[in-house]
Amino acid sequence: MRRNRRIFRSRAGGVAVVIVLSASSLVSCGPTASSPVPVPACTTACELGQLGRDRGITIGAAVTADGLRDPAYAAAVLQNFNAVTTEIDMKWRVVHPTSDSWVWAGADAVVDFASRHSLPVRGHTLVWGKESANPSWLVGTTSPAAFRSAVLSAITTEVGRYAGRVQRWDVVNEPFTSDGNELDHNVFYQRMGPDYIEQALRTAHAADPSAGLWINESGLELGTSRADNFIAMAAALVARGVPLQGIGIQAHRLTSSVIQPGRLASVVRRLRALGLQVAITELDVPTGPTRSESDQVDVDRQIAGECLDGGCTEITTWGVSDGATWLDQPANRADLPALEAFPVPTRPLLLDTAYRPKAAYRAVADVLRAH
Ligand code: G3I
Repeated sequence: MRRNRRIFRSRAGGVAVVIVLSASSLVSCGPTASSPVPVPACTTACELGQLGRDRGITIGAAVTADGLRDPAYAAAVLQNFNAVTTEIDMKWRVVHPTSDSWVWAGADAVVDFASRHSLPVRGHTLVWGKESANPSWLVGTTSPAAFRSAVLSAITTEVGRYAGRVQRWDVVNEPFTSDGNELDHNVFYQRMGPDYIEQALRTAHAADPSAGLWINESGLELGTSRADNFIAMAAALVARGVPLQGIGIQAHRLTSSVIQPGRLASVVRRLRALGLQVAITELDVPTGPTRSESDQVDVDRQIAGECLDGGCTEITTWGVSDGATWLDQPANRADLPALEAFPVPTRPLLLDTAYRPKAAYRAVADVLRAH
């Protein structure tokens, strides 16, 4: 393995030794890179993405363009994951802040990074009913015809821009009510009708017929009546020939509720039986007084194990490391009273704040090895 040793002076004045791996040497612990990227030496980590690659399983991380500017963050992505999801940069509040403007810088930066390193991208997300997640111009478009036209045109523009470079899209995010078992009567439902999901999927398909189109939902891992109703909705879409390739199960474990053994695997199998792919798309398991790090290991092991038992094709964590998680941001915590049980820092991910693998990382690696 060719290695060049480079010495960088940190902002604090300390000296950090960073190993720069050549494109060919990256193969052993990351994707092929077209240009050398500073990558900290692999110690005990560096195996998750490769284990996934060996088994045909996507091991992703949600990333941000801001995060990728930090070489240590970028290196951790390359070392430990084999795919990325755009955590923030493709949402319409960011890319389409006014009805007549698009701001592509962040989304382009993530897609360019991924393309340079041969990492597939999950584009997240196009249609998300949560009102505060949408730009005010869209929510304020009250004419059904104008709203429909704006939504379908935005899908066409964004999917079209990244055709061939974004392999999977979360076309619709969280269509069910957050605590219920039915379609949320969100702004898309109200203005476009209950078939807004089908309209969005068909429009995305027309913009890039080669992209995999997904619906992403929370709470399905529990295998309750919410999952039953969701699976019925997915089955109806499939039966009508709507272009839908996969279902994302978010798996934010923000309460201490237990996933009854076997339930997640069963949900995955039922979706697979419809001919759909299934992924864990937003895994994070916060810790706190009611959940120790060892409990976190058990939860991650169960989710990864049942996901793969059922036939999942992907496990993506919602963030790269404990150093940057939405669960620690005040703006997000204000929305979620459940998070009072998990004080900051929540440490919900597989890598710690210094990008070192945690016990949960090793547990997920063991699950992959066993499959
Ligand atoms: O960019 C502004 C910044 O300028 C400002 O200083 C700062 C002050 O709070 O806010 C920044 O915006 C924040 C943005 O993330 C970027 O950090 C928003 O307030 C904050 O609400 C936003 O949160 C994101 C949230 O979706 C809404 O888009 C989270 O990071 C992101 O993890 C979260 O992801 C969602 C998935 O898309 C869907 N599933 C649930 C998941 C968690 O809510």
